[in-house]
Amino acid sequence: MERVLGAGMVPLILATMGVFMLYRILVRLRPGATLQDSVVVITGASSGLGRECARAFHAAGARLVLCGRDAGRLQQLVQELSETSSGTQLQTYTPSTVVFDLADTASVVTAAEEILKCYGQVDVLVNNAGISYRGNILDTHLLVQRDVMETNYFGPISLTQALLPSMVRRRSGHVVVISSIQGKIAIPYRSAYAASKHATQAYFDCLRAEIEQYGIPVTVISPGYIRTNLSVNAVTGDGSKYGVLDKTTAVGWDPRDVAQGVLRAVRQKRKDVVLASPLPSLAIYLRTLWPALFFKLMASSARTKQKKEA
Ligand SMILES: NC(=O)c1ccc[n+]([C@@H]2O[C@H](COP(=O)([O-])OP(=O)(O)OC[C@H]3O[C@@H](n4cnc5c(N)ncnc54)[C@H](OP(=O)(O)O)[C@@H]3O)[C@@H](O)[C@H]2O)c1
Repeated sequence: MERVLGAGMVPLILATMGVFMLYRILVRLRPGATLQDSVVVITGASSGLGRECARAFHAAGARLVLCGRDAGRLQQLVQELSETSSGTQLQTYTPSTVVFDLADTASVVTAAEEILKCYGQVDVLVNNAGISYRGNILDTHLLVQRDVMETNYFGPISLTQALLPSMVRRRSGHVVVISSIQGKIAIPYRSAYAASKHATQAYFDCLRAEIEQYGIPVTVISPGYIRTNLSVNAVTGDGSKYGVLDKTTAVGWDPRDVAQGVLRAVRQKRKDVVLASPLPSLAIYLRTLWPALFFKLMASSARTKQKKEA
C-alpha cells in the first residue's frame, strides 16, 4: 500500500480531486437554459416553497400555471405577481391557476386536462406540494400512513403520468419533484413522510432512465429544513393537525434561497440535487458508507425524544 501511494501518487490523487472539484464548480456556475416564455406548472404554489418558486420562475419570464387547493390564496398570488415586473428586460406574464386536491386521483386527471388547456403544452412540471407528519409508529393509524402517501407520492406521480404523454409527443419537457433529505435518509417519528419521500425518489429515478430517450430530463431536489409552515400543517398519528412550528423548521433555510436553487437546477437540467447544510448531506453519506453507525445515531436520537416525553 505504501509503495502504491508513494512516489508521486498522493500529488496525482490531489490534482485529480482538484480538477474534479473545479469541474463541479464550473458546472454549477453555468447559467443554463433560459426560461423566458416556458410554460411552468407549480403544485403547492399557495404557500411556502411553492410560492417562492412561483416568484422566481415568474421573474425569469415563465408562463405559470399555479396549482393548489385554496383558490383564494392562489388568486392573491396571481394579483401580487401581475403587479410585479421582473426588474429586467424579461417579459413577464399573468399566471393561470388550476385548483385541485392532489390526494384525489380522479380530480388530478381532470386537472391535468385543465393545465394543458392553459397554454397547450407544459415545458416544466414542478411537483412541489406536500404534507409532513409527526408521530410514533405504534400510535399511528394506517389511514394516516396512506393519506400522506396519497398526497406526497400518488399525487405527484398521477399528475406526472397524466402530463407525460403530451411531453413525449413533443419530445420536450422537464419533470421536477421536490423530495427531501428524508427521501434519502429516514429519521425517527417521521415514518409516513420519510416513506413517501423515499418512494418519490425511487419512482422519479426510474422515470429519469425510462424517458431519457425522449430528451425529457427529470430533476429530484432534496432540501433540508426550510422556514415554511410545513411542520404547522403536518398531520399526527390520529390524523389531527400538528400545528407547531418546529425549531428545526424555524431556523431552516430561507424559502427564497431554496427557490433560487430550484430555478438553477431546472436551468441546468440537473438530475439529483441536495439543497442543505453540510450535516444532513454528511448523514446521507454515513447511511451509505457506515449504516451501522447511522442506525445507532438514529436510535439514540429516538431515545432522547422518548426520555423527554416520559
Ligand atoms: N419545509 C421544509 O422543511 C421542507 C424540507 C424538505 C422538503 N420540503 C418539501 O417542500 C415542499 C413544499 O412544502 P413547504 O415547506 O412549502 O410546506 P407548506 O408551506 O405547508 O406548503 C405545502 C403546499 O402543498 C400544498 N398541498 C398540501 N396538500 C395538498 C393536496 N392534497 N393537494 C394539493 N396541494 C396540496 C399546500 O396547498 P394548500 O394547502 O393551499 O392546498 C401548500 O401550498 C413539500 O413537498 C415538502 O415535503 C419541505
